[in-house]
Amino acid sequence: MKGSVRMWPQLALLYLLTAGPTWSSAALVDLPFMEYLDSNQLVLLQWGFDEVVGNITFTLSIKTSGWIGFGLSPKGNMRGADMVIGSFGTSGIYFQDHHATGNVLPMVDSTQDYFLHSMTEVEGRTSMTFQRAIQTCDEEDFHITAVPIKLIYAYGQTDEIKYHGFNRGTKEVNLLRYITRDRSQEGEHFDFKIDNITIPANITYYHCRVMKMPRFDVTQHVYRIEPRIDNLDMVHHMILYGCPLHVTDDYDGPCYAGNKADNCIKVMAVWGVGAGAYELPADAGIPIGGPNKDTLYRLETHYNNPATIAGRQDSSGLRIRHTSNLRRYNVGTLTTGVVPSRDYRIPPGATQFHTYGTCNTSLFSELMEDPVPDLKVFALLLHTHLAGRKIRAGLFRDGQQVDFLALDENYDFAMQEVISVGSIKTIKPNDTILVECNYMTTNRSGYTHMGLGTMDEMCLAFLLYYPEIPINSCWSTPDQRNIESVPNELQPADQEDIITYENQLSSSPQYQIVSRNEGQPSMHLEATVMTMNATPTVTCRNLQSPSKGGRCSCSEIIGGSALLLLLLWSEV
Ligand SMILES: *[C@@H]1O[C@H](CO)[C@@H](O)[C@H](O)[C@H]1NC(C)=O
Ligand SMILES: *[C@@H]1O[C@H](CO)[C@@H](O)[C@H](O)[C@H]1NC(C)=O
Ligand SMILES: *[C@@H]1O[C@H](CO)[C@@H](O)[C@H](O)[C@H]1NC(C)=O
Ligand SMILES: *[C@@H]1O[C@H](CO)[C@@H](O)[C@H](O)[C@H]1NC(C)=O
Ligand SMILES: *[C@@H]1O[C@H](CO)[C@@H](O)[C@H](O)[C@H]1NC(C)=O
Ligand SMILES: *[C@@H]1O[C@H](CO)[C@@H](O)[C@H](O)[C@H]1NC(C)=O
Repeated sequence: MKGSVRMWPQLALLYLLTAGPTWSSAALVDLPFMEYLDSNQLVLLQWGFDEVVGNITFTLSIKTSGWIGFGLSPKGNMRGADMVIGSFGTSGIYFQDHHATGNVLPMVDSTQDYFLHSMTEVEGRTSMTFQRAIQTCDEEDFHITAVPIKLIYAYGQTDEIKYHGFNRGTKEVNLLRYITRDRSQEGEHFDFKIDNITIPANITYYHCRVMKMPRFDVTQHVYRIEPRIDNLDMVHHMILYGCPLHVTDDYDGPCYAGNKADNCIKVMAVWGVGAGAYELPADAGIPIGGPNKDTLYRLETHYNNPATIAGRQDSSGLRIRHTSNLRRYNVGTLTTGVVPSRDYRIPPGATQFHTYGTCNTSLFSELMEDPVPDLKVFALLLHTHLAGRKIRAGLFRDGQQVDFLALDENYDFAMQEVISVGSIKTIKPNDTILVECNYMTTNRSGYTHMGLGTMDEMCLAFLLYYPEIPINSCWSTPDQRNIESVPNELQPADQEDIITYENQLSSSPQYQIVSRNEGQPSMHLEATVMTMNATPTVTCRNLQSPSKGGRCSCSEIIGGSALLLLLLWSEV
């Protein structure tokens, strides 16, 4: 295109935010996911989202000192694409939300739903961080859902948008259910599995195998865990735990048989029915070997055999992929929720009954030598048994709820998997974690106890976080001594009685138990259950701009920039 239009001075009048080489309006969120959109690794997209709040944040970083653009497209080209473009103009920053209805002029959206957090240009790399609602209320924006989406990008060599000398491309990514590609070529693997047992003809059976991993003299990082299941109809879940050093004997038999194997409670990996492989974030790994080379591990397998079929052989297990190329952080797992002690009973006939487990992390400092770091939670697994309907995990700071770590309003016993938090959520020292489970027992005739069997209940949230601290569980159970009207085996007469009983349990003092990897657990009777906020309802949202700039009402210039964008994007 001859005599490319220099439009920055005009645009700058409208979109001037500030002058200068960098600009930032807010602290950046941690963005856990990254993907190069091109094969030369020049175009890097990082992102994170919060399904509770309903927002998604991107950082687009391209090896150019010119303008950069990003879009979401139904077909990978411009038709129907939702686009943002940003640049350092000669006298200010340009950043704008556009859409294209077809092979016609792309328009500046009548509502601007992308908000710029920061733009930088450092050593020939231009980056912009911007945020939008996952579902905006704007028909002109692309609807982000949990399916693979074609992402498009383009950039120029200068800040001046012109036809010649720019690059573009497309890549398909599932933003909300991102699974990194199998990097199995990268490392080695071994299987940790059961050795050909006969599944007993019992409805519930927990099998435990305690043994060492292969010996690694140098510390390895586990980065991927894959299920290897023989009997998909019976293997309900598997948990791999690390043992304390005083557990030195192998074991192969029923779990919770009152032997030392019961002390192996440091969760390392979790697999639940319906789940696939799990891969850790790129900068984190679970340490094995090296100083831990003598550690034993316990593989707990829960068989669910409602038809009490006899004689099935099973050698299910987990394939552990690991590398000696250590990542930046060691990953830990913190078990939170309700202590599975049989004292906590759920009455029958309840349309809903809530249980609560609390974890006041201010107890951590007395169990640790080092200062307690910020714990970065990147994934978690929620766990109840058959009566569970909903699970929520809230994060509290200075007596106020500051976030939800997890929300599952449609809990499904048959689909248990490690779920990505979407953005990295930070547990600061002294925060409290509250796990709430909601059960339905209308079909039951007797009390349901907290416990290990499938017909018992559990209420757990396993938090996967880094950097690792030497504490593996922090959970609670109500002190019931002072409750006068705890029903005995008498069933509460109606839902009102059930609610009264529920309130007595949740308002009584709670015993909180914090367990370290080594040494005695710490017990406290001072915890109280705080009130969790109502689940926010997210349909569509209009986010607030971090810096409310003036709105454009100048159609002539919009037309001009749209013309350029058409030329820029239409040949993708
Ligand atoms: C979501 O929005 C909140 C409030 O504006 C912000 O603090 C948070 O960082 C955002 N998170 C993501 C992942 O976009
Ligand atoms: C598993 O055990 C059964 C019965 O003990 C035996 O018949 C079968 O050959 C074993 N399978 C393998 C692969 O060892
Ligand atoms: C299976 O159930 C029977 C009868 O209830 C019981 O005696 C046995 O100990 C159970 N077996 C296992 C391995 O749990
Ligand atoms: C956390 O609580 C402990 C004791 O309860 C206190 O000594 C410490 O200063 C607190 N830390 C922070 C960061 O508030
Ligand atoms: C309750 O039991 C009835 C009859 O046995 C069954 O049809 C129904 O599906 C059960 N409901 C639930 C929620 O389990
Ligand atoms: C957490 O424990 C600390 C120290 O024991 C206590 O001061 C604080 O009030 C507790 N916080 C909550 C929310 O229970």
